[in-house]
Amino acid sequence: MSETASHVASGKVREIYALDDERLLLVTSDRISTFDVVLPTEIPDKGRVLTGLSAFWFAQTESIVPNHLIALREDGRSTECRRLEMLPIECVVRGYLAGSGWKDYLATGEVCGHRLPEGLSESERLPEPIFTPATKAQTGHDENIDRAAAVELVGEERFDEAERLTLELYSYVAGRALEHGIILADTKLEFGVDPEGRLVLADEAFTPDSSRFWPADGYEPGTSQPSYDKQFVRDYCETLGWDKTYPGPELPADVVDGTRARYIEAFERLTGVDFAEYLADPASVQA
Ligand SMILES: Nc1ncnc2c1ncn2[C@@H]1O[C@H](COP(=O)(O)OP(=O)(O)O)[C@@H](O)[C@H]1O
Ligand SMILES: [Mg+2]
Repeated sequence: MSETASHVASGKVREIYALDDERLLLVTSDRISTFDVVLPTEIPDKGRVLTGLSAFWFAQTESIVPNHLIALREDGRSTECRRLEMLPIECVVRGYLAGSGWKDYLATGEVCGHRLPEGLSESERLPEPIFTPATKAQTGHDENIDRAAAVELVGEERFDEAERLTLELYSYVAGRALEHGIILADTKLEFGVDPEGRLVLADEAFTPDSSRFWPADGYEPGTSQPSYDKQFVRDYCETLGWDKTYPGPELPADVVDGTRARYIEAFERLTGVDFAEYLADPASVQA
């Protein structure tokens, strides 16, 4: 890290430093959060998996939307980024009915104001992907909001632009993932505004932390799907009867190893790059 970088903030997973007025250094740790609680046990290399996958997708989607990435550092977990004015909404898109989308649908027949056909089952593919923004909670859980509430926060023009870009990015990446046997059920993107007033894709993109990835073989609607990534940890936590408030439980070695293996498997399937190759040369994902 540059000696002049000053620490700006700690997210659940990232440490944020300012390099200067225009640039941030985002350092992605190996911390894992589940049910919005950061656990005391880390997953070795998880931060590198997230960083490498984001850098891969930033390179792949550059022609759809500009992104914040300036440079990926040698350690594979630090990125120099353009410092942006972040939109105060999370841009979520859902192609399948899962998580809070499924819960909202069960309760109201709608998700974020999108009225859906009756009789859909859990994990079912939606007729069309839908944009389902959420608030960015400073602490606790994000809240799903409808178009009117989101327009209130970002204005109509930005909302329409963010929705269009989010849907376009989803359809492109979901198609690519499916070629590798992975369903991108839903994902969360964050956009910022650059000094020229343009929307720029920021934060992380299409990682297991920001997305629901399901193995395509074995996909069967009607129940929740086993997913890559955190499912293993969530399942373990469910066996403990933990109340999902701070502090979270320590993870045993087999859960750590199993989770690490899944993160790396998702990385390799999606990027086509061996994780060892990424560690030796992070730029391999940007080729
Ligand atoms: N280019 C950027 N400019 C300004 N802020 C950014 C940029 N990219 C990401 N961020 C912010 O940095 C933080 C990333 O840290 P993270 O650990 O993911 O936080 P969180 O716990 O909020 O998910 C998020 O608050 C995100 O909105
Ligand atoms: Mg985050």
